[in-house]
Amino acid sequence: MEKVDVLIVGAGAAGLMCAANAAQRGRKVLLIDHAQAAGEKIRISGGGRCNFTNMNCAPDAYISQNPKFAISALRRFSQWDFLDIVNRHRITWHEKTLGQLFCDDSAKEIVTMLLKELSLAGAAVRLQTRVEEVALTEKGFQVTIQSEEMLAASLVVATGGKSIPKMGATAFGYNIARQFGLKIEDTRPGLVPLVFGPDVLADLKPMAGLSLRASVDTNGNRFEEGLLFTHRGLSGPSILQVSSYWREGQKIEIDLTPEQDALEFLKERKQGRGAQLPGKVLAEILPKRLAGLIGAAAPKGQALAQLSEQALGNLSRAVNNWQILPAGTEGYRTAEVTVGGVSTDELDSQTMEARRVPGLYFIGEVVDVTGWLGGYNFQWAWSSGWAAGQVV
Ligand code: FDA
Repeated sequence: MEKVDVLIVGAGAAGLMCAANAAQRGRKVLLIDHAQAAGEKIRISGGGRCNFTNMNCAPDAYISQNPKFAISALRRFSQWDFLDIVNRHRITWHEKTLGQLFCDDSAKEIVTMLLKELSLAGAAVRLQTRVEEVALTEKGFQVTIQSEEMLAASLVVATGGKSIPKMGATAFGYNIARQFGLKIEDTRPGLVPLVFGPDVLADLKPMAGLSLRASVDTNGNRFEEGLLFTHRGLSGPSILQVSSYWREGQKIEIDLTPEQDALEFLKERKQGRGAQLPGKVLAEILPKRLAGLIGAAAPKGQALAQLSEQALGNLSRAVNNWQILPAGTEGYRTAEVTVGGVSTDELDSQTMEARRVPGLYFIGEVVDVTGWLGGYNFQWAWSSGWAAGQVV
């Protein structure tokens, strides 16, 4: 039976990072993945340029039942530590917006960098390899890999979340947690477009393709970024961000002109250009199609000067406080991340080791730590992978 010090399941962002660090400490490491290539999500991320971290990375950019859990790993292996490795490999990068760092050329450079780190340190990688069974024995974790038995002192689960099943996402990590009696926080798709029922869609569909900067809020979580109208509902960074906080049955509130008080603007125009129709006036602060849709809700044929205070109030609320009820999300098919996962109550925040199962570790997205859009999820994968890599 082959023996290793550390068996890591999942050669994604977290698994690659952990493997390199454990091997650098002289551990005998085997990293396995059922996919044909390592780091597939890294490769397709950030539109092929990988938003690999965020300069503003801080624990308050993460959603978890225990918001303090991520602090230790993020502090001990920060965005600057990852950037040091990127710089050492002479990968050129740029800040796109809001502290988001992307490769200048290709996300593949990050995968190559991690594979180089890992092979220099002497870790082995086996792809297209599936784990059949895991059992804890007195000698360690006995793992059946395609009819072959292996013994590992430490087992690291780095199989990610449920998003994009087409790319090889599986419930393996959650199943292992369940097998060892560990609690799992309910999972749901995050960083995902929102979809709407037929009544709302009747208005939204003709807007498809239109984008603007908006401020979107759900449950007091507000994000001001781009918003995109789609054929099924709403997307764009502001919507993806709130989707991670959104729960079924809750409305979202949208301010379509966050820098402009629409009531003040309409009152001012009522005096200056009162003969114009509301849709025409609103087109000064909104895309024309959208202004037309909102303006059409005013009493038919009435010019701005004829509108009552109440009608002006209704129009301005439609601009600054548009409230709509999503029917749902596009689901794991398009979600960038999975919110929820292996409960942080079960894990040591310094090491990612399961408190009740010594030798068993969970890192990356499979854990109940979910970052905002903008490089935060990769940073969690690097930081948690690094933390486990120091002790396995
Ligand atoms: P990850 O999903 O990377 O890796 C898990 C690995 O486990 C995979 O290689 C999988 O094949 C393997 N696996 C699963 N089940 C297995 C099994 N049963 N047996 C063996 N292997 C198994 N984040 C960010 O910060 N910046 C960005 O630009 C983007 N962009 C982005 C785009 C898209 C389209 C998506 C879907 C996601 C992003 N993300 C992102 C999120 C980011 O990709 C994600 O949070 C990390 O990849 C999580 O890293 P992990 O290593 O935890 O899982």
